[in-house]
Amino acid sequence: MNHLLTIGELEPAQIQQLLDLSEELEATGEQVLHGKNIGFVFEKPSLRTKIGTEVAINQLGGNAVQIEADLLLANGKAVPFTCRESLFDAMMNVSQWCDAIFARVYSHTTLEKMMKYGTIPVVNALCNLHHPMQALADLLTIQQNFGKEKKLNIAFVGDANNVAFSLFEIALQMGHSVSFGGPQQYSWDEEKLNYFSLLSVQFGGSFNSTTDPAEAVYNADIVYTDTFVSMGEEHLFDDKIRHFQPYQVNEKLFSAAKADAGFMHCLPAHRGIEVTDEVMDHPNSWVYQQAKNRKIVSKGVFAALLSDEYKPLFKPVAQPELTESLSK
Ligand code: CP
Ligand code: NVA
Repeated sequence: MNHLLTIGELEPAQIQQLLDLSEELEATGEQVLHGKNIGFVFEKPSLRTKIGTEVAINQLGGNAVQIEADLLLANGKAVPFTCRESLFDAMMNVSQWCDAIFARVYSHTTLEKMMKYGTIPVVNALCNLHHPMQALADLLTIQQNFGKEKKLNIAFVGDANNVAFSLFEIALQMGHSVSFGGPQQYSWDEEKLNYFSLLSVQFGGSFNSTTDPAEAVYNADIVYTDTFVSMGEEHLFDDKIRHFQPYQVNEKLFSAAKADAGFMHCLPAHRGIEVTDEVMDHPNSWVYQQAKNRKIVSKGVFAALLSDEYKPLFKPVAQPELTESLSK
């Protein structure tokens, strides 16, 4: 592993090794990032990803260096008026001082450019398409509750978004079954539906997509939801709230899953919108355990990328195809 932009870059064995390493580092307190500096660049707000990972890096003996997003990212505006220099020049500079960069961006293409322009590992702290660090923490949470062996039915009710995409990739790769319930207007395109189906066939689970929330959660071991309106699409708020209203995870919908089902949400949650208080505060709600695990999996990822001791565990993976031309 030399970057982490998507879950699809990892093989199932690597995913499990990363989780095992994360738990081992959390238990031993081994300081494997001594002298390493990791640049944090966040174009959007963050609580869990930023603070959880900063604490992880501190606990591993490394330093998190906060870089103002405007110094690197023009956010679609013309250089040099809102951004001081090109991303190429900024990445070449950051690569002289930092050992890796942890970036939350609007566009996945920005991460691909960072990877191409810099000479240091790039880790995706969330983009419009993926949230791999969340998915790793979610799988760890699932394994802590159900063990590593049991194959589960995971229902995701809500928006076809970045969190759902990475969750489906990791869950299907580990042989679990995924059932998605959301409105047609905001569902997956044909290509993504085919991709999830292919993963399910390849790894022995199943994939189902429906517009009926009760069908999606039927027989589920886990019910997962996320905000209906992601960062950057606030202009869609009114339309989305209208379409997603039947997909709220409330007691009635949650009780249509298995009796001992767990509830998951990446957070931040909008209580009373995508989830009710009763479900958020339910004894089987694992939302704060997920948040705790955000810190723990950051340890495994940055150790695997940067520590001489653990790097050999992970063979370099093929980098994803670049999605558009990457002029400087
Ligand atoms: N779940 C998550 O990524 O939270 P933040 O946006 O607060 O980082
Ligand atoms: N889907 C949400 C996740 C936030 C952690 C967003 O992109 O805003």
